[in-house]
Amino acid sequence: MNGTVQSSKVLIADIINGIYAEEGVLERCEFVVCPSMLHIGAVRHATITNDYVAFGAQDCSAEGGGAHTGDISAEMIKDAKCSHVILGHSERRQDHGETDALIAAKATKAHEHDLTTIICVGETDAQRGAGEEKTVVEAQLKGSIPSSATAENTVIAYEPVWAIGTGKTASAEDVADMHAFIREKLQDSLANPENVRILYGGSMKPENAEDLLATPNVDGGLIGGASLRAEDFLAIALKA
Ligand code: PGA
Repeated sequence: MNGTVQSSKVLIADIINGIYAEEGVLERCEFVVCPSMLHIGAVRHATITNDYVAFGAQDCSAEGGGAHTGDISAEMIKDAKCSHVILGHSERRQDHGETDALIAAKATKAHEHDLTTIICVGETDAQRGAGEEKTVVEAQLKGSIPSSATAENTVIAYEPVWAIGTGKTASAEDVADMHAFIREKLQDSLANPENVRILYGGSMKPENAEDLLATPNVDGGLIGGASLRAEDFLAIALKA
């Protein structure tokens, strides 16, 4: 929930120009930018001819359409020329009480409309403190990934809640351990789990990106705060 139409357009233009200037980065990275719902239309319109960055939304409805005031359907997101949608971000789970079952229903709708879902999982500080991080993440994976999921239409983002927007990052060992665990558990939900992209999110920034992105089973990042500055976002990509 950041920015204005104008600042979002400037940010995306700076990101695209930065990628253009470092074109080699496209051999190593794919970029997806997920603006706020209110800004997607304008930002997408301004960048429709670009081949560097794909677009996504930060949520979608589990309903197909019709009388659901305030909600935005997967079909609308597809119509806005997006290819991805983030689902089950911890802020949606916390602020809106989203359950695993609701996230799975949203993902089903998104897959029906040919969107790639970025499904977020991650434990709270208290859950990690109690040694429950794997039980929590396993339950989230099991509950949030629908039967329509494939290695192609599903990306998992591991985001320890205590690391999001806090400046705290999980250690490379903890990330390696959790990502290997997620990879293993994905075999219960879809075929070819070795092909699923598993992103790390939670205070990824230029200073820690190299270590995090070099960690086994970390296939990319879900960048929050550092994506608000084109310079930082690109600096992270250059570490990949
Ligand atoms: P952060 O956010 O990079 O600012 O921690 C991550 C996120 O919002 O998913």
